[in-house]
Amino acid sequence: MEHTVRYGIIGTGMMGHEHVRNLALLPGAEVVAYADPESSSRWWTRQLIGSEADEYADYRDLLKQASVDAIVISSPNHTHREVLEHVFDTDMHVLVEKPLCTTVDDARFVVERAEAHAGVVWVGMEYRYLAPIARLLEEVRAGSVGRLRMLAIREHRFPFLPKVGDWNRFARHTGGTFVEKCCHFFDLMRLITDSEPVRVFASAAQDVNHLDEEYAGEVPDILDNGYVVVDFESGARGLLDLCMFAEAGRNEQEIAATGDAGKVECFLPESTVVVGRRSPRSLEIEQLAVDAEIEAAGGHHGSTYVEHERFRAAIVGGSGPAVSASDGLRAVVMGAAAELSVTESRVVEIAELLV
Ligand SMILES: NC(=O)c1ccc[n+]([C@@H]2O[C@H](COP(=O)([O-])OP(=O)(O)OC[C@H]3O[C@@H](n4cnc5c(N)ncnc54)[C@H](O)[C@@H]3O)[C@@H](O)[C@H]2O)c1
Repeated sequence: MEHTVRYGIIGTGMMGHEHVRNLALLPGAEVVAYADPESSSRWWTRQLIGSEADEYADYRDLLKQASVDAIVISSPNHTHREVLEHVFDTDMHVLVEKPLCTTVDDARFVVERAEAHAGVVWVGMEYRYLAPIARLLEEVRAGSVGRLRMLAIREHRFPFLPKVGDWNRFARHTGGTFVEKCCHFFDLMRLITDSEPVRVFASAAQDVNHLDEEYAGEVPDILDNGYVVVDFESGARGLLDLCMFAEAGRNEQEIAATGDAGKVECFLPESTVVVGRRSPRSLEIEQLAVDAEIEAAGGHHGSTYVEHERFRAAIVGGSGPAVSASDGLRAVVMGAAAELSVTESRVVEIAELLV
């Protein structure tokens, strides 16, 4: 019989529920407890899981009292460090949502503690597991593009959604758009180029979104469009093209990895991958499908399910995380460098932030 891993979810808003729905489909996984200070979030969670699971208003009580093997942290970004500090006092495994933390200092602190932690510490970068992106990575690794020189990632999407307590309206709670949202893409850039960033230049602004909103007299301060150029140690360059008032388009994410021998592109949600070779010239177009039940469980085209399959396998198999705290830190550093580049209108060397 499959060993059942018992999960506790800390923070049961939109993403917490996506974790609950995906874990419900995963063999050998059971959500047995959850914690959220907001009664309406707990009420929705109860509708989703039923009354079997233990409910807590304070996550510290869950950590002390619930019989769980693994924690999923899906509370707001600025709470991750504090929640992790308490998890590190236990020997539980933990999957913490992206971004690891909102500041480089907090993320460094977490990396130090994670290295000494008995359980698996995994950062929720599930874009790695989106089928078209995983396929693009496979092609690059197999040498289809030759020597990778350019990696362009475009996200053109809808504005930030409303959140419980409006935490995502201010950079002090999110880390800023390039940390909060774009840590996924910086993580992908490191993964696909198989190289570390050296310097970053970003041009960005808050031009359109949330300018007519006010929270306790304060207008949100989140960037809604910009370009980020990244130089990598390998000589490859990355470009992030972000626009958050661009839902009137065909795809949300488009990635192009181009080398001296060819180009691989992927498109989401279209779920297509295009592999082009220069010599002899060829073009293959592949359409990837996701299991309908898994697709329905999460808003991330099946990637949250794959993330949980792998997290669980690491727990049961005693292996390390595929996305470590150190990976989480490096994505935060790139995002923070981009934010600093915008604020100071200059090129930022990664070494300034990661000494
Ligand atoms: N991987 C992804 O693609 C992805 C997508 C969306 C959100 N996220 C991340 O998931 C996390 C949650 O985002 P969301 O969209 O679900 O936000 P949300 O506002 O919908 O939910 C957050 C929940 O956390 C609760 N909360 C607040 N403080 C808490 C605390 N101290 N302890 C426990 N719970 C607490 C809130 O009451 C709320 O119910 C964020 O870190 C976000 O960046 C990741």
